[in-house]
Amino acid sequence: MTVPVTGHTHRMEMASTEHVSEGASVHLTVDGQPVELVDVGGTLLDALRGPLNLRSVKDGCSPQGQCGCCTVLVDGQPRVSCVTPLRRVSGRSVTTLEGLSDGDVQRWSEAFCATGGSQCGFCTPGIILRFVGLEGSAVSQFANNQFSDNEVPPDRDRAARALHAHLCRCTGWQTVLDAWEVAVGIAPIPVSNQSEWAPPDGKASDRRATLEGRSLQTVGPEVPLGRCGFAADTAPLDALVAVPGDGPPDDPGSWVVAGTLAEARRAAGKVQGRRTTAEVVPPIDLPGGDWDAVLRTVWVEPAPLETDAAWCLPAGEPVGPLANGGAFGAKVDSSLPAVARALADAHGSPVLVAPSREDIVRFGVKRPPVAGGASADGTGVLRVARTPGIAEAVAAVAPGLDVVEVEVVGPPTSAAVRAAGWAEAVVLLTGAGALVSGQPVVSPDGAEATAIVDDDGIRVTVRCGDPIDEVVLRSFCIGAAHMAWSWITAEGLSVDATGTVHDLTVRSFGIVRATETPLITVEVLADSGRPVNGSDAVFAAVAAATWVHRGSLPDLPTG
Ligand code: FES
Ligand code: FES
Repeated sequence: MTVPVTGHTHRMEMASTEHVSEGASVHLTVDGQPVELVDVGGTLLDALRGPLNLRSVKDGCSPQGQCGCCTVLVDGQPRVSCVTPLRRVSGRSVTTLEGLSDGDVQRWSEAFCATGGSQCGFCTPGIILRFVGLEGSAVSQFANNQFSDNEVPPDRDRAARALHAHLCRCTGWQTVLDAWEVAVGIAPIPVSNQSEWAPPDGKASDRRATLEGRSLQTVGPEVPLGRCGFAADTAPLDALVAVPGDGPPDDPGSWVVAGTLAEARRAAGKVQGRRTTAEVVPPIDLPGGDWDAVLRTVWVEPAPLETDAAWCLPAGEPVGPLANGGAFGAKVDSSLPAVARALADAHGSPVLVAPSREDIVRFGVKRPPVAGGASADGTGVLRVARTPGIAEAVAAVAPGLDVVEVEVVGPPTSAAVRAAGWAEAVVLLTGAGALVSGQPVVSPDGAEATAIVDDDGIRVTVRCGDPIDEVVLRSFCIGAAHMAWSWITAEGLSVDATGTVHDLTVRSFGIVRATETPLITVEVLADSGRPVNGSDAVFAAVAAATWVHRGSLPDLPTG
């Protein structure tokens, strides 16, 4: 591997995220190279992504320390670098993905490609480092990437527990754990209709991923390595950095601009939020009537691991937050590219617009909350937060539901978020008996999915035209099934009567962890027709089956 830290000892100024502590040198080893940095109170993540320019180390939530994207090895042990003060690693050895051997990089990359364990790829470098640490902890004499006869790699359950320190919003964990088993040699590649994995057929695989992600998305060995051109990784090193101030986020004048992320955050004076004890309350009242089923949803967070970012050169075209997927619709209408362009022009300098995790929770779009009642004949009323396009989305699958848009005080909503509106309609109609759980759900795209949810797990079939790349399709369908299960049973954001979001940390969103995710099996039904998105149909089918399995309780999440 190319190691982007020079072999020479060098001194670099570190920006502060806290109070400034003047000038002490910190000596450490990074990816095998000696490094000298000036400690001014920053974190290890600041150093790795800043002066050392190691872009496999991702920032998904700093300084919350809750998403795992910034995980590196410190003396062989996984550590989240965003909450590790630089001074604490003085004299120690830090390893990033860039510091792994070529053989290890290839082994992990191929395992994730073979299983579909990486979709956008933002979370994966941190997970790989976690797995490398887990593997290393179990191997006394690790040579040639092989365990000796008397050594046993940690099993799947242990790997799942190790993932508690991470969040992946795309994959639903299962294929990540498949990748663990493949990489350490305790399971074969679990490809359903192929006897042997072959490198993905670039363009064809990309096409399936783009259909499923609803935004340009690529597949291949660079993806698990986090090398998909995320805006925060590709911005010029001399770019100014902008963070939200107190005004509306689509107003460039409200952004605080400084030389580094740490300086901009300090100047903005933002105090990082915490999880609240405030209740998660459905924001819309049920319609009056005598219904066979009623459903109220709550605010939930799309929670893409790559927080939206964008950058632009003066008079240039902005690079936006859609480098490898669009967070299943949650990023497609981002205003950040326009903000980056305006700020670059105003400052006559490249500008990186870099909101924090809590900024994105505050102003990022959500799926519109609903409250509805339905009868077994398919008629009913669905009250939904006013959102352009939502009535049409519902009508496409549930023409008998009367959609009533209501004003709801809260964060912005979007009909582009995965299956927004129509998935809620499918859930409600299934609970009312107008649709039969286990029978095919037909999406507006024409895909069909069935789902059976019981104590043995989640079993899915999907028919969505030519699969093109079954590994990719299964990965997205497993991720969609996890997202649906998590939405129905566990997710919610506390939003008060003034519309202020109070759950601002990654762990407060309620996303179901690897150890709590049921076994998901996906059967891809043969079809030679035109390929269409299949995972949204899976999302709706699994959501409906999960709701029925949990007793069709009126309010989400069901627990
Ligand atoms: S960025 Fe460090 S844990 Fe999320
Ligand atoms: S692949 Fe894990 S967050 Fe996208």
